[in-house]
Amino acid sequence: MGASTLTITDNRTGKRYDIPIEHGSIRATDLSQIKTGADDGGIVSYDPALANTASCKSKISYIDGDKGILRYRGYPIEELAEKSTYLETAYLIVKGELPTTSHLGMWQHNIKMHTMVHENLKAFMQGFRYDAHPMGMLVGTVGALSTFYPEARHVMDLESRRVQTRRLIGKIPTIAAYAYRHGRGLPWVYPDNDLSYTGNFLSMLFRMTELKYRPDPVLEHALEVLFILHADHEQNCSTTAARMVGSALADPYSVVAAAAAALSGPRHGGANEEVVHMLREIGSIDHIPELIKHVKAGERRLMGFGHRVYKNYDPRAKIIKEVAHQVFSVTGKSPLIDIALELEKIALDDDYFVKRKLYPNVDFYSGIIYDAMGFPVEMFPVLFAIPRTAGWMAQWAEMVLDEEQRIARPKQLYVGYDERPYLPLDRRRDIGAQETEVHGPL
Ligand code: ACO
Repeated sequence: MGASTLTITDNRTGKRYDIPIEHGSIRATDLSQIKTGADDGGIVSYDPALANTASCKSKISYIDGDKGILRYRGYPIEELAEKSTYLETAYLIVKGELPTTSHLGMWQHNIKMHTMVHENLKAFMQGFRYDAHPMGMLVGTVGALSTFYPEARHVMDLESRRVQTRRLIGKIPTIAAYAYRHGRGLPWVYPDNDLSYTGNFLSMLFRMTELKYRPDPVLEHALEVLFILHADHEQNCSTTAARMVGSALADPYSVVAAAAAALSGPRHGGANEEVVHMLREIGSIDHIPELIKHVKAGERRLMGFGHRVYKNYDPRAKIIKEVAHQVFSVTGKSPLIDIALELEKIALDDDYFVKRKLYPNVDFYSGIIYDAMGFPVEMFPVLFAIPRTAGWMAQWAEMVLDEEQRIARPKQLYVGYDERPYLPLDRRRDIGAQETEVHGPL
């Protein structure tokens, strides 16, 4: 075995550089010593979309995309989905270990003590238009929480970090449920702390005139499993947004609002909505071959298929597929499931998908479950944001305490004009409206 170094020869100068390799990586800053002269700033690595850049060291979640493995703090996702609860998994993610009985009891108590929101926050949410998108309401309201808890800005204070973590995990289902009921013109339901985390969420969503809401145990359990599966997923787009904003030492409410804003994008938290639209559009099994034809011609994508990291069956999709059948035993079978199963069968047999390693991802079946449970598609990213809050907080705290992390500040490759003198107004050519459009992205 040779030394753990990478030798680079700069053919511009003929110089050789030995760069240390650690954890299968080189430090991008080690490249800056590779220069052609004193006024050269040195080589930088160019990586749009950060496709091959590790931006941190983390101990929280582990993915092996080729093997279809996901673990939280070393525990396989399959075991957690089968044996754990969401709050226990959130403890594991946030604290690093599974709780003892007494620690779990304290954690559940501490989260439940924070399920209510300030009445002014409720009034704030009432200011949204009747047709406001629930994800927009969630992003805005979580951001507004920072004005209710100004001490949250003391991000280096352990006790403050702990309290804000409990508050966020406790309040986010309440805010999500208020956003849902706002759109329906329904009175908002206060938290019921006798219920489980997901049972209380279902109560805040669906309780009508009954004195005590009793969640269906199958649906409550299905939501627990879905929440466990969505709790963390290493350095995805929203988590990277959380770390990026957190690196400026912004308070955790601003951090989670930024992460949720990233999640709201259709490339991230919105794909399950697209799956439901696609399955509805297909309408019947007979129309699948036609869709596959368009997909293979590159005219459209099979939503809920493919993943940047997983080049195998997404382990979460396997579990969700099972949960779907449990949910249908209560809600009645969704007409979309037969289309989805047939679509999966055809795609997994087809060379186009096999060659490109395109398998169902987490979103392929989750949308069908949410749809069967009665959620409108606009709620899908909100349902993702609730459990991911534990992951965002854990990743944020890890970043805050990481001595190697400073304010995140990537470099750019400037490809614009060289210096040019200011052009007085009367000497500028009138290029007309059409050409103006060609000139800029805005
Ligand atoms: N349907 C058809 N073809 C696809 C699909 C798909 N869903 N996904 C990828 N491909 C093809 C591409 O056309 C490309 O083919 P080519 O090599 O002939 O050009 C090849 O597979 C590689 O695709 P990339 O776009 O390079 O893969 P990337 O890693 O950038 O994209 C992504 C990953 C965005 C998830 C993509 O697979 C996709 O668009 N899937 C559909 C949307 C979706 O389900 N998103 C949810 C992801 S999970 C999550 O965020 C929670």
